[in-house]
Amino acid sequence: MEVQAGVEKETVKERLTEILALCERDRSRLIPILQSVQDAFGYLPREAILEVASYLGMTDVQVYGVASFYNLFRFTPLGKHPIQMCMGTACHVVGGGLVLEALERVLDIEVGGITEDGELSLDRVACIGCCGLAPVMVIGKKIYPKMTPTKVDEALVNLKIETKEAARD
Ligand code: FES
Repeated sequence: MEVQAGVEKETVKERLTEILALCERDRSRLIPILQSVQDAFGYLPREAILEVASYLGMTDVQVYGVASFYNLFRFTPLGKHPIQMCMGTACHVVGGGLVLEALERVLDIEVGGITEDGELSLDRVACIGCCGLAPVMVIGKKIYPKMTPTKVDEALVNLKIETKEAARD
């Protein structure tokens, strides 16, 4: 998925019109509609929740209530470097939760949040298919295998260095 910072209100409206034109006006389609919206923006902007609610004849509170029930939806933009901590069973049983706690502490954000500078966002995800490397963290497209809470600082420092080097090239 393409990483997107917060999007302009007008852009949201235009894209939503295109998305909703392809969606059946049926409340039972709410989840797939929200998935399409999140695929387009990287998160569910407030304006999008209002538009989807109006399209389906629901209240924004109802739409938000459904969306917030599922871990897969986020309500803030993704950071430039989205961090995903796998919380599938294999990762969970070997300490994925402790790594996630360490990430929250070091970044000073909660799951679903974004750092103040917009650089990093944090999400928990279901199995990403490399259980043999558990617990697994992903930053952007890079996989960090066999994570521990003590490896979190090192991974973030390396990311900073790599980002600086990439900017120089
Ligand atoms: S459970 Fe984490 S990669 Fe499968």
